[in-house]
Amino acid sequence: MDFTAVFSKGGSRLTSSKIRELMQLAADPEIISMAGGMPDASNFPYQEIREIEDGWSDSERAAAYQYGPTGGYPPLVEQIAAYEAASGINTTGQQVLPTSGAQQAIQLVTRVFCDPGDTILVEVPTFIGAVAVFIGYGAIPAGVELDGDGIIPEALDERIAKLTAAGRKPKFLYTNPTFQNPGGMTLSQSRRDRVLEICARHGLPIIEDDPYHDLYFEGKHEDYRSIKARDTDNLVIRLGTFSKILSPGIRLGWMLGAPEVVGRCETAKQGEDACSSSYSQVLAAGYLKRGFVEPYTARMRKIYGEKCRLTLQRLASEMPDGISWTTPAGGFFTWVTLPEGADSEKLFLAAIGKKVAFVTGAPFHVDGRGGNKLRLAFSNSSHEQIRTGIARLARAAREILS
Ligand SMILES: Cc1ncc(COP(=O)(O)O)c(C=O)c1O
Repeated sequence: MDFTAVFSKGGSRLTSSKIRELMQLAADPEIISMAGGMPDASNFPYQEIREIEDGWSDSERAAAYQYGPTGGYPPLVEQIAAYEAASGINTTGQQVLPTSGAQQAIQLVTRVFCDPGDTILVEVPTFIGAVAVFIGYGAIPAGVELDGDGIIPEALDERIAKLTAAGRKPKFLYTNPTFQNPGGMTLSQSRRDRVLEICARHGLPIIEDDPYHDLYFEGKHEDYRSIKARDTDNLVIRLGTFSKILSPGIRLGWMLGAPEVVGRCETAKQGEDACSSSYSQVLAAGYLKRGFVEPYTARMRKIYGEKCRLTLQRLASEMPDGISWTTPAGGFFTWVTLPEGADSEKLFLAAIGKKVAFVTGAPFHVDGRGGNKLRLAFSNSSHEQIRTGIARLARAAREILS
Protein backbone atom coordinates (compact mmCIF):
# COMPACT_ATOMS: atom_id res chain seq x y z
CA MET A 1 0.00 0.00 0.00
CA ASP A 2 1.33 3.43 -0.91
CA PHE A 3 0.16 5.51 2.04
CA THR A 4 1.54 8.77 0.67
CA ALA A 5 -1.61 9.18 -1.42
CA VAL A 6 -3.81 9.09 1.69
CA PHE A 7 -1.76 11.12 4.15
CA SER A 8 -3.19 14.53 5.10
CA LYS A 9 -1.13 17.63 4.33
CA GLY A 10 -0.26 17.73 8.05
CA GLY A 11 0.67 14.05 8.05
CA SER A 12 2.90 14.51 5.03
CA ARG A 13 4.81 17.25 6.86
CA LEU A 14 5.76 14.76 9.59
CA THR A 15 9.04 13.47 8.23
CA SER A 16 11.94 12.24 10.38
CA SER A 17 14.23 15.06 11.47
CA LYS A 18 17.94 15.27 10.79
CA ILE A 19 18.58 15.30 14.50
CA ARG A 20 16.75 12.01 14.97
CA GLU A 21 18.85 10.41 12.23
CA LEU A 22 22.06 11.65 13.84
CA MET A 23 20.94 10.50 17.26
CA GLN A 24 20.51 6.96 15.99
CA LEU A 25 24.29 6.94 15.59
CA ALA A 26 24.61 7.78 19.28
CA ALA A 27 22.70 4.69 20.49
CA ASP A 28 25.89 2.76 21.36
CA PRO A 29 25.93 2.37 25.20
CA GLU A 30 29.66 3.10 25.27
CA ILE A 31 28.99 6.62 24.01
CA ILE A 32 28.99 9.36 26.62
CA SER A 33 25.89 11.32 25.71
CA MET A 34 25.90 15.03 26.38
CA ALA A 35 23.07 15.27 23.85
CA GLY A 36 19.64 14.88 25.50
CA GLY A 37 18.35 17.55 27.87
CA MET A 38 17.77 15.01 30.63
CA PRO A 39 17.61 15.62 34.37
CA ASP A 40 20.16 13.82 36.55
CA ALA A 41 18.76 10.27 36.70
CA SER A 42 20.80 9.36 39.78
CA ASN A 43 19.12 12.11 41.79
CA PHE A 44 15.40 11.89 41.16
CA PRO A 45 13.43 12.41 44.43
CA TYR A 46 12.78 8.67 44.83
CA GLN A 47 12.47 8.86 48.62
CA GLU A 48 9.97 11.71 48.53
CA ILE A 49 7.87 9.92 45.88
CA ARG A 50 7.71 6.78 48.00
CA GLU A 51 6.70 8.82 51.03
CA ILE A 52 3.87 10.53 49.10
CA GLU A 53 2.52 7.28 47.67
CA ASP A 54 2.73 5.52 51.06
CA GLY A 55 0.77 8.37 52.61
CA TRP A 56 -2.13 8.38 50.15
CA SER A 57 -5.62 8.20 51.65
CA ASP A 58 -8.11 5.80 50.07
CA SER A 59 -9.72 8.64 48.12
CA GLU A 60 -6.33 9.90 46.85
CA ARG A 61 -5.39 6.39 45.79
CA ALA A 62 -8.73 5.97 44.00
CA ALA A 63 -8.30 9.35 42.26
CA ALA A 64 -4.78 8.34 41.16
CA TYR A 65 -6.09 5.26 39.35
CA GLN A 66 -9.31 6.79 37.96
CA TYR A 67 -10.03 9.04 34.97
CA GLY A 68 -10.04 12.68 36.05
CA PRO A 69 -11.49 15.95 34.79
CA THR A 70 -9.81 17.40 31.67
CA GLY A 71 -9.31 20.62 33.60
CA GLY A 72 -7.05 18.78 36.04
CA TYR A 73 -7.13 17.17 39.51
CA PRO A 74 -8.50 20.08 41.60
CA PRO A 75 -5.94 19.83 44.47
CA LEU A 76 -3.14 19.94 41.88
CA VAL A 77 -4.64 22.98 40.13
CA GLU A 78 -4.74 24.70 43.52
CA GLN A 79 -1.14 23.73 44.35
CA ILE A 80 0.20 24.91 41.00
CA ALA A 81 -1.55 28.25 41.42
CA ALA A 82 0.01 28.60 44.89
CA TYR A 83 3.45 27.63 43.55
CA GLU A 84 3.22 30.26 40.77
CA ALA A 85 1.81 32.87 43.18
CA ALA A 86 4.80 32.30 45.47
CA SER A 87 7.08 33.42 42.66
CA GLY A 88 5.25 36.73 42.29
CA ILE A 89 2.53 35.95 39.76
CA ASN A 90 -0.93 37.34 40.39
CA THR A 91 -3.02 34.27 39.71
CA THR A 92 -6.37 35.92 40.39
CA GLY A 93 -8.58 35.63 37.31
CA GLN A 94 -6.11 33.22 35.68
CA GLN A 95 -6.80 29.62 34.74
CA VAL A 96 -4.35 26.79 35.39
CA LEU A 97 -4.53 23.72 33.15
CA PRO A 98 -2.39 20.66 33.93
CA THR A 99 -1.07 19.17 30.68
CA SER A 100 0.82 16.07 29.61
CA GLY A 101 4.17 17.83 29.81
CA ALA A 102 4.90 21.40 28.75
CA GLN A 103 5.22 19.83 25.32
CA GLN A 104 1.46 19.30 25.19
CA ALA A 105 0.89 22.85 26.41
CA ILE A 106 2.92 24.15 23.44
CA GLN A 107 0.88 21.96 21.15
CA LEU A 108 -2.48 23.09 22.60
CA VAL A 109 -1.72 26.81 22.37
CA THR A 110 -0.47 26.35 18.82
CA ARG A 111 -3.67 24.54 17.91
CA VAL A 112 -5.80 27.26 19.47
CA PHE A 113 -3.89 30.18 17.88
CA CYS A 114 -2.58 28.97 14.52
CA ASP A 115 -3.94 28.06 11.13
CA PRO A 116 -1.57 26.66 8.50
CA GLY A 117 0.41 29.53 6.99
CA ASP A 118 0.27 31.72 10.11
CA THR A 119 3.49 33.29 11.27
CA ILE A 120 4.78 33.03 14.82
CA LEU A 121 7.90 34.52 16.38
CA VAL A 122 10.62 32.44 17.99
CA GLU A 123 14.08 33.09 19.35
CA VAL A 124 17.08 32.15 17.25
CA PRO A 125 18.10 29.63 18.45
CA THR A 126 14.98 28.13 20.05
CA PHE A 127 13.68 24.89 21.61
CA ILE A 128 13.57 22.23 18.95
CA GLY A 129 10.46 20.52 20.40
CA ALA A 130 8.46 23.72 19.98
CA VAL A 131 9.60 24.16 16.39
CA ALA A 132 8.45 20.61 15.64
CA VAL A 133 4.96 21.53 16.92
CA PHE A 134 4.81 24.81 14.99
CA ILE A 135 5.88 23.18 11.73
CA GLY A 136 3.50 20.28 12.38
CA TYR A 137 0.61 22.75 12.43
CA GLY A 138 1.84 24.43 9.25
CA ALA A 139 2.78 27.62 11.11
CA ILE A 140 5.80 29.54 9.86
CA PRO A 141 8.33 30.37 12.57
CA ALA A 142 10.10 33.69 12.04
CA GLY A 143 13.27 34.30 14.04
CA VAL A 144 14.18 37.06 16.47
CA GLU A 145 17.82 37.73 17.22
CA LEU A 146 19.28 37.00 20.69
CA ASP A 147 22.47 38.01 22.41
CA GLY A 148 23.90 37.04 25.81
CA ASP A 149 20.96 38.82 27.52
CA GLY A 150 18.27 37.07 25.49
CA ILE A 151 15.93 38.67 22.94
CA ILE A 152 17.21 41.98 21.58
CA PRO A 153 14.19 44.28 22.13
CA GLU A 154 14.89 46.54 19.13
CA ALA A 155 15.17 43.51 16.85
CA LEU A 156 11.84 42.20 18.20
CA ASP A 157 10.07 45.52 17.64
CA GLU A 158 11.43 45.83 14.11
CA ARG A 159 10.62 42.23 13.23
CA ILE A 160 6.99 42.53 14.37
CA ALA A 161 6.57 45.86 12.53
CA LYS A 162 8.04 44.47 9.29
CA LEU A 163 6.05 41.24 9.36
CA THR A 164 2.85 43.16 10.15
CA ALA A 165 3.50 45.60 7.29
CA ALA A 166 3.97 42.60 4.98
CA GLY A 167 0.56 41.21 6.02
CA ARG A 168 2.11 38.50 8.20
CA LYS A 169 1.39 39.74 11.70
CA PRO A 170 2.68 37.03 14.04
CA LYS A 171 0.16 35.16 16.18
CA PHE A 172 2.43 35.09 19.22
CA LEU A 173 5.98 35.25 20.50
CA TYR A 174 7.29 31.96 21.88
CA THR A 175 10.13 32.51 24.33
CA ASN A 176 12.15 30.37 26.73
CA PRO A 177 13.55 33.27 28.76
CA THR A 178 15.52 31.59 31.56
CA PHE A 179 18.63 29.40 30.99
CA GLN A 180 17.42 28.92 27.48
CA ASN A 181 17.32 25.60 25.66
CA PRO A 182 19.67 25.43 23.78
CA GLY A 183 21.60 28.66 24.37
CA GLY A 184 21.84 28.69 28.17
CA MET A 185 21.34 32.48 28.13
CA THR A 186 18.76 34.38 30.20
CA LEU A 187 16.57 37.29 29.16
CA SER A 188 17.64 40.10 31.50
CA GLN A 189 15.10 41.56 33.91
CA SER A 190 15.07 44.96 32.19
CA ARG A 191 14.57 43.33 28.81
CA ARG A 192 11.61 41.35 30.17
CA ASP A 193 9.88 44.70 30.75
CA ARG A 194 10.79 45.85 27.24
CA VAL A 195 9.65 42.61 25.57
CA LEU A 196 6.32 42.82 27.39
CA GLU A 197 5.86 46.49 26.47
CA ILE A 198 6.67 45.82 22.79
CA CYS A 199 4.33 42.83 22.54
CA ALA A 200 1.55 44.75 24.34
CA ARG A 201 1.96 47.66 21.92
CA HIS A 202 1.66 45.31 18.94
CA GLY A 203 -1.13 43.22 20.52
CA LEU A 204 0.94 40.05 20.46
CA PRO A 205 0.45 37.28 23.05
CA ILE A 206 3.59 35.86 24.65
CA ILE A 207 4.04 32.15 25.30
CA GLU A 208 6.53 32.10 28.18
CA ASP A 209 8.00 28.59 28.45
CA ASP A 210 10.01 28.56 31.67
CA PRO A 211 10.99 25.01 32.72
CA TYR A 212 14.44 25.80 34.17
CA HIS A 213 13.85 28.93 36.27
CA ASP A 214 14.11 27.08 39.61
CA LEU A 215 17.45 25.58 38.62
CA TYR A 216 19.72 28.62 39.00
CA PHE A 217 23.25 28.31 40.29
CA GLU A 218 24.01 32.02 40.21
CA GLY A 219 21.90 34.61 42.02
CA LYS A 220 18.58 34.02 43.69
CA HIS A 221 14.97 33.30 42.77
CA GLU A 222 13.98 36.99 42.38
CA ASP A 223 16.70 37.50 39.76
CA TYR A 224 14.67 35.34 37.38
CA ARG A 225 11.25 36.96 37.94
CA SER A 226 9.01 35.84 35.10
CA ILE A 227 7.47 37.90 32.32
CA LYS A 228 4.08 36.72 33.57
CA ALA A 229 4.77 38.33 36.96
CA ARG A 230 4.86 41.72 35.17
CA ASP A 231 1.81 41.08 32.99
CA THR A 232 -1.10 43.39 33.75
CA ASP A 233 -2.75 43.03 30.30
CA ASN A 234 -3.23 39.25 30.42
CA LEU A 235 -0.98 38.91 27.43
CA VAL A 236 1.25 36.11 28.72
CA ILE A 237 0.46 32.40 28.70
CA ARG A 238 2.96 30.83 31.05
CA LEU A 239 4.08 27.21 30.66
CA GLY A 240 5.58 25.18 33.47
CA THR A 241 6.59 21.58 34.00
CA PHE A 242 7.38 18.99 36.66
CA SER A 243 9.99 17.50 34.32
CA LYS A 244 12.90 19.39 35.86
CA ILE A 245 11.64 19.77 39.44
CA LEU A 246 10.36 16.21 39.99
CA SER A 247 10.61 13.86 36.98
CA PRO A 248 9.99 13.99 33.22
CA GLY A 249 8.76 10.39 33.32
CA ILE A 250 5.52 11.49 34.99
CA ARG A 251 4.82 13.64 31.88
CA LEU A 252 3.18 16.50 33.67
CA GLY A 253 3.27 20.21 32.96
CA TRP A 254 0.82 23.09 32.99
CA MET A 255 -0.25 26.34 31.43
CA LEU A 256 -1.46 29.42 33.25
CA GLY A 257 -3.14 32.40 31.64
CA ALA A 258 -6.31 34.09 30.50
CA PRO A 259 -9.33 31.77 30.81
CA GLU A 260 -10.40 32.70 27.22
CA VAL A 261 -7.23 31.00 25.99
CA VAL A 262 -6.67 28.29 28.60
CA GLY A 263 -10.36 27.29 28.51
CA ARG A 264 -10.09 26.72 24.76
CA CYS A 265 -6.95 24.68 25.30
CA GLU A 266 -8.90 22.61 27.83
CA THR A 267 -11.58 21.96 25.21
CA ALA A 268 -8.91 21.01 22.69
CA LYS A 269 -7.31 18.70 25.26
CA GLN A 270 -10.60 16.88 25.81
CA GLY A 271 -10.35 15.37 22.35
CA GLU A 272 -6.63 14.63 22.66
CA ASP A 273 -6.04 12.67 25.84
CA ALA A 274 -9.22 13.30 27.90
CA CYS A 275 -7.03 14.08 30.91
CA SER A 276 -3.38 13.99 31.87
CA SER A 277 -2.25 11.01 33.95
CA SER A 278 -4.30 11.05 37.17
CA TYR A 279 -1.54 9.09 38.91
CA SER A 280 1.00 11.80 38.08
CA GLN A 281 -1.38 14.57 39.08
CA VAL A 282 -2.14 13.10 42.51
CA LEU A 283 1.58 12.51 43.02
CA ALA A 284 2.56 16.04 41.96
CA ALA A 285 -0.17 17.58 44.15
CA GLY A 286 1.31 15.74 47.15
CA TYR A 287 4.84 16.80 46.17
CA LEU A 288 3.90 20.49 46.18
CA LYS A 289 1.63 20.22 49.22
CA ARG A 290 4.29 18.56 51.37
CA GLY A 291 6.79 21.28 50.44
CA PHE A 292 9.24 18.90 48.72
CA VAL A 293 9.92 21.13 45.72
CA GLU A 294 12.15 23.71 47.42
CA PRO A 295 14.53 21.31 49.22
CA TYR A 296 14.77 19.16 46.07
CA THR A 297 15.49 22.08 43.74
CA ALA A 298 17.98 23.49 46.27
CA ARG A 299 19.82 20.13 46.17
CA MET A 300 19.69 20.03 42.36
CA ARG A 301 20.90 23.63 42.01
CA LYS A 302 24.06 22.60 43.82
CA ILE A 303 24.49 19.40 41.78
CA TYR A 304 23.86 21.08 38.40
CA GLY A 305 26.00 24.07 39.38
CA GLU A 306 28.96 21.78 40.11
CA LYS A 307 28.49 19.94 36.82
CA CYS A 308 28.23 23.20 34.91
CA ARG A 309 31.38 24.64 36.47
CA LEU A 310 33.29 21.44 35.75
CA THR A 311 32.05 21.48 32.13
CA LEU A 312 33.17 25.10 31.62
CA GLN A 313 36.50 24.42 33.29
CA ARG A 314 37.17 21.31 31.16
CA LEU A 315 36.16 23.17 27.98
CA ALA A 316 38.61 25.95 28.88
CA SER A 317 41.43 23.46 29.51
CA GLU A 318 40.81 21.08 26.62
CA MET A 319 39.27 22.87 23.65
CA PRO A 320 41.47 24.21 20.85
CA ASP A 321 41.62 27.97 20.18
CA GLY A 322 38.82 29.61 18.27
CA ILE A 323 35.97 27.82 20.05
CA SER A 324 33.74 29.68 22.52
CA TRP A 325 30.76 28.78 24.73
CA THR A 326 28.13 30.42 26.88
CA THR A 327 28.37 30.61 30.69
CA PRO A 328 24.87 29.71 31.90
CA ALA A 329 23.65 30.86 35.31
CA GLY A 330 21.35 27.83 35.55
CA GLY A 331 19.69 25.05 33.60
CA PHE A 332 21.18 22.13 31.69
CA PHE A 333 23.09 23.50 28.70
CA THR A 334 26.06 25.35 27.36
CA TRP A 335 26.00 26.47 23.74
CA VAL A 336 29.26 26.09 21.89
CA THR A 337 30.38 28.11 18.86
CA LEU A 338 32.98 26.66 16.51
CA PRO A 339 35.03 28.96 14.25
CA GLU A 340 33.10 30.54 11.37
CA GLY A 341 32.68 28.03 8.54
CA ALA A 342 33.29 24.95 10.73
CA ASP A 343 30.54 22.34 10.61
CA SER A 344 29.18 20.87 13.85
CA GLU A 345 27.72 17.93 11.93
CA LYS A 346 31.22 17.00 10.81
CA LEU A 347 32.35 17.36 14.42
CA PHE A 348 29.42 15.17 15.51
CA LEU A 349 30.54 12.33 13.25
CA ALA A 350 34.14 12.65 14.46
CA ALA A 351 32.91 12.79 18.08
CA ILE A 352 30.77 9.67 17.66
CA GLY A 353 33.94 7.92 16.45
CA LYS A 354 35.50 8.88 19.80
CA LYS A 355 32.36 7.87 21.71
CA VAL A 356 30.89 11.18 22.81
CA ALA A 357 27.66 12.81 21.56
CA PHE A 358 26.08 16.26 21.57
CA VAL A 359 23.34 17.93 19.53
CA THR A 360 24.25 19.88 16.38
CA GLY A 361 23.18 23.54 16.22
CA ALA A 362 21.37 23.96 12.90
CA PRO A 363 18.03 22.32 13.91
CA PHE A 364 17.60 24.92 16.67
CA HIS A 365 17.70 27.69 14.08
CA VAL A 366 14.66 28.57 11.98
CA ASP A 367 16.71 30.73 9.61
CA GLY A 368 19.18 28.22 8.20
CA ARG A 369 22.08 29.39 10.37
CA GLY A 370 23.73 27.61 13.29
CA GLY A 371 25.89 25.19 11.29
CA ASN A 372 28.89 26.02 13.50
CA LYS A 373 26.98 25.70 16.80
CA LEU A 374 26.33 22.78 19.13
CA ARG A 375 24.48 22.13 22.37
CA LEU A 376 26.23 20.38 25.21
CA ALA A 377 24.07 19.11 28.10
CA PHE A 378 25.92 18.57 31.38
CA SER A 379 22.82 17.68 33.43
CA ASN A 380 22.78 13.87 33.21
CA SER A 381 26.50 13.12 33.01
CA SER A 382 28.63 12.22 36.03
CA HIS A 383 31.77 14.27 36.75
CA GLU A 384 33.82 11.43 35.34
CA GLN A 385 31.75 11.37 32.15
CA ILE A 386 32.04 15.14 31.79
CA ARG A 387 35.85 14.94 32.09
CA THR A 388 36.18 12.06 29.65
CA GLY A 389 33.49 13.31 27.30
CA ILE A 390 35.02 16.76 26.91
CA ALA A 391 38.53 15.34 26.45
CA ARG A 392 37.11 13.18 23.62
CA LEU A 393 35.20 16.12 22.14
CA ALA A 394 38.33 18.28 22.18
CA ARG A 395 40.27 15.57 20.33
CA ALA A 396 37.51 15.37 17.73
CA ALA A 397 37.50 19.18 17.41
CA ARG A 398 41.26 19.29 16.86
CA GLU A 399 40.88 16.64 14.20
CA ILE A 400 38.20 18.44 12.18
CA LEU A 401 39.73 21.90 12.59
CA SER A 402 43.25 20.91 11.58
C1 LIG B 1 12.22 24.86 26.74
C2 LIG B 1 11.51 23.58 26.93
N1 LIG B 1 10.18 23.54 26.82
C3 LIG B 1 9.48 22.41 26.98
C4 LIG B 1 10.13 21.23 27.24
C5 LIG B 1 9.31 19.97 27.35
O1 LIG B 1 9.06 19.71 28.67
P1 LIG B 1 8.10 18.53 29.14
O2 LIG B 1 8.97 17.42 29.57
O3 LIG B 1 7.35 19.15 30.29
O4 LIG B 1 7.18 18.20 28.03
C6 LIG B 1 11.52 21.19 27.36
C7 LIG B 1 12.21 19.92 27.60
O5 LIG B 1 13.36 19.76 27.47
C8 LIG B 1 12.22 22.40 27.20
O6 LIG B 1 13.56 22.45 27.29
